[in-house]
Amino acid sequence: MDTQDRKYKIKETFNAAAAGYDKPALRFFKHAAEHLAQRMGFSGTERVLDVATGTGAVALACARRLGAGHVTGIDLSEGMLAQARAKAAAEKLGNLTLQCMDLEALDLGADTFDAACCGFGIFFLPDMEAGLKIIAQHVKPGAAIGITSFTGEVMEPLSQKFLDRIQSYDAPFPPLSWKRLDTPEKLHALYRAAGLEQPLIYTEQVGYPLTGFDEWWDLVWHSGFRVLVSQLAPDDLARFTAAHREEIEALADSDGIELNVNVLIAVGCKPIR
Ligand SMILES: C[S@@+](CC[C@H](N)C(=O)[O-])C[C@H]1O[C@@H](n2cnc3c(N)ncnc32)[C@H](O)[C@@H]1O
Repeated sequence: MDTQDRKYKIKETFNAAAAGYDKPALRFFKHAAEHLAQRMGFSGTERVLDVATGTGAVALACARRLGAGHVTGIDLSEGMLAQARAKAAAEKLGNLTLQCMDLEALDLGADTFDAACCGFGIFFLPDMEAGLKIIAQHVKPGAAIGITSFTGEVMEPLSQKFLDRIQSYDAPFPPLSWKRLDTPEKLHALYRAAGLEQPLIYTEQVGYPLTGFDEWWDLVWHSGFRVLVSQLAPDDLARFTAAHREEIEALADSDGIELNVNVLIAVGCKPIR
């Protein structure tokens, strides 16, 4: 797949997922964003860049902490940004600017921002090191850069049941993007390669019980898993859903179906020259 096709696919996927991205089943994004914003240790006056801002989970969590500061959120997907704008307006957050931009072509000025964040976005880039270097160019020396990713066992055993079943169909199976950044060691190596100080890495469990299969399906349908199920022909999709419902419902206990979402939060600084 060439660069333009890849970007078109990302935009198309997130434009389609945007309306459901903030459904209750996916509230771990909001929980993880709160942890990241808290770990950034803002004083309240910073100008912050939020890359791959999506529907604004991280940007809003930062903006709420920046009484005298400002957040610039950028994303490839207009659909995701429209949701972010609506949420910012509903909260009357006036210290947040949202723009449709590609991180790989970002040019908002060298050494402009006091800090930068990227929630669950860096692993979509073909060259993660180049992407982190672009973020680093945009912040001042000494500024903190915080990113989040998922640990390898995220959403297991539900995700593994989903993947095992989808692999039994004759559909192309692209590698899972977050697996490129699913351990503290990989995060350390990425920061080192981008010339940043070694990050502090935090692990947070931001999961919860889902009420049933329908909430799991909300999650599948409004996340990267959507690409995999949307390849199935209507008959196959109906067969897939019925069999998958049965195996997921078998995991339920009196609290519901446990969703394990173990996330990694890395916060490291651009060196002071
Ligand atoms: C999983 S969402 C994360 C959204 C948000 N940061 C959060 O924590 O909920 C990933 C986002 O990365 C964006 N994205 C992927 N590649 C990008 C790029 N090259 N430039 C800007 N945004 C990109 C997608 O459009 C999508 O909105």
